[in-house]
Amino acid sequence: PVDLTQLIIDRIRDVPDYPKPGVTFKDITPLLADHAAFAAVIDAIVAHYGRGTIDKVAGVEARGFILAAPVAYHFGAGFVPVRKKGKLPSSTYAESYDLEYGSETIEVHQDAFTPGERVLIVDDVLATGGTARATAELVRRTGAQVAGLSVLMELGFLNGREKLADLDLHAMVTV
Ligand code: PRP
Ligand code: MG
Repeated sequence: PVDLTQLIIDRIRDVPDYPKPGVTFKDITPLLADHAAFAAVIDAIVAHYGRGTIDKVAGVEARGFILAAPVAYHFGAGFVPVRKKGKLPSSTYAESYDLEYGSETIEVHQDAFTPGERVLIVDDVLATGGTARATAELVRRTGAQVAGLSVLMELGFLNGREKLADLDLHAMVTV
């Protein structure tokens, strides 16, 4: 049997001092380039929550898009982009947060979800939790509910999980 945890760990590359000194970047491109690993990860996310339990999948620009879109397809759910400020054309809600490096504002279309819809948020890495916290707030402001948050990799030493105690958090790997 395939050990999914090891499969993921082996294909996420640590890049030291990127994008700035002292930060180790978690590069998921080797995992994405490996068909079997990419497919196994998407399948595992869908299996964790179960088909039929999710109405829409929200992906966070940019790396979250790559995972959230195939997850949405596999669920039979819609896909909603959460984008960096200024990229969405229609009326938006916005939330700002501090990143591990720098700060950011993200937005979602006000009509992206129907009130009551069950939304799964998908991203590649959970670091300080700021991105996920802000995304959850955006979803709630539309009247939808956050059914869960799924990430490939959680950086446990940054304690992002503490900001997300109200969410059903599924981290495939915690380092
Ligand atoms: C990275 C990563 C997560 C976020 C995690 O995205 O893809 O979205 O940081 O950090 P946090 O838990 O401290 O908020 P980044 O903002 O670097 O942008 P990208 O996805 O466009 O590369
Ligand atoms: Mg990101």
